[in-house]
Amino acid sequence: MEQASRGAVLVTGGGGYIGAHTAKSLAEQGFRPIVFDNLSSGFREAVRWGEFVHGDIRDGRALREAIEAHGVRQVIHFASLIEVGRSVVRPDLFWDVNVRGTASLLDAIRDCGVERLVFSSSAAVYGQPEGLAARDLLAEGLPTAPTSPYGDTKLACERMIEAYCRAFGLSAVALRYFNAAGADPSGLIGEAHDPETHLIPLAIAAGLGFGKPLTVFGQDFPTPDGACLRDYIHVVDLAAAHVAALAVELPAGGFEAVNVGTGHGWSVLEVIDAVERTLGRPVPRSVGARRPGDPPSLIADPSRARDLLGWSPACSSLDQIVRDAARWHSNQRYGRAARAESASGAQDQPRMAEIEGGDRPGVRSAV
Ligand SMILES: NC(=O)c1ccc[n+]([C@@H]2O[C@H](COP(=O)([O-])OP(=O)(O)OC[C@H]3O[C@@H](n4cnc5c(N)ncnc54)[C@H](O)[C@@H]3O)[C@@H](O)[C@H]2O)c1
Repeated sequence: MEQASRGAVLVTGGGGYIGAHTAKSLAEQGFRPIVFDNLSSGFREAVRWGEFVHGDIRDGRALREAIEAHGVRQVIHFASLIEVGRSVVRPDLFWDVNVRGTASLLDAIRDCGVERLVFSSSAAVYGQPEGLAARDLLAEGLPTAPTSPYGDTKLACERMIEAYCRAFGLSAVALRYFNAAGADPSGLIGEAHDPETHLIPLAIAAGLGFGKPLTVFGQDFPTPDGACLRDYIHVVDLAAAHVAALAVELPAGGFEAVNVGTGHGWSVLEVIDAVERTLGRPVPRSVGARRPGDPPSLIADPSRARDLLGWSPACSSLDQIVRDAARWHSNQRYGRAARAESASGAQDQPRMAEIEGGDRPGVRSAV
């Protein structure tokens, strides 16, 4: 039976990785997701819950029409360019889409009387915090000092949102994600970035033989095994944090920035071990130099998320993250890997029947 009693939520970027998982979670919780996406890096096939509006967040008129047509009172804003490396060579694009796009959305929100905004921010706003030892937790009160144009745009958006809240009576929560990973256990949606820059999908692709051997950037960090430590949050837990952020009681004008992570760091080598355990195959790899600006350790202090959102991770064990990601990548339904396999006719060959679950285990096909 269809539930729509909790109202329409505009989900910008809902055709992308985290947005699609959040749209599913919203629908499961009785909301009506309205996905607004220009599909520049997202997929129509990922929009399976709620309605789809093709549009660009820099187009204020299209936003106002979508908000008014659906009676939207809450917005979750994922739409963004996300590749840190590209932001260094094309800062113009990042300021245009991420910052001008967010300004356009905020104007539409103000004009249409939207009450709550949840914004995709990032641990990138912290940059490389000084004086922290490996495994120290990052709390929201730390100074923000991004080290990339991508991080700059996320911080600029946070500040702009906070100012709009104060001036126009909106209330907002900026969620600073650490490393999103994993996939919906159904196997219907998952991570399909192109290019892919995240460790877990790259390690899985290398292990399954459809990606390049993995490069471990730096094994001389001041950490227990010399590799970087990162905090991985299952995308299903991350989606749940957005739904929780819609319900947080905030006064009109209230703004909160909240970390979303587990409070536990895994080293790159521990992640590779987990991928090898799950696949039952080695992950071909080499060791490269450290990348400029890569902090040794980035681990969330998740206390504010627990206290404010009443949220804590339920499925973010490393093994579950890797298992769900491996199931998705071995049966990927959309994205470059699915297209490549479809073109080669390899979709007829079961690749990873041992990763069970999903509704079509072991056989990948393009949608
Ligand atoms: N993936 C992570 O680990 C991570 C970590 C921290 C923060 N984030 C943030 O989370 C959000 C979602 O990330 P993701 O990994 O799902 O990325 P994604 O690329 O899969 O999704 C982004 C979506 O936004 C859409 N989009 C881009 N520009 C648009 C525009 N101008 N108008 C309308 N739609 C547009 C894309 O088509 C895509 O569907 C981003 O804001 C990102 O910065 C992601």
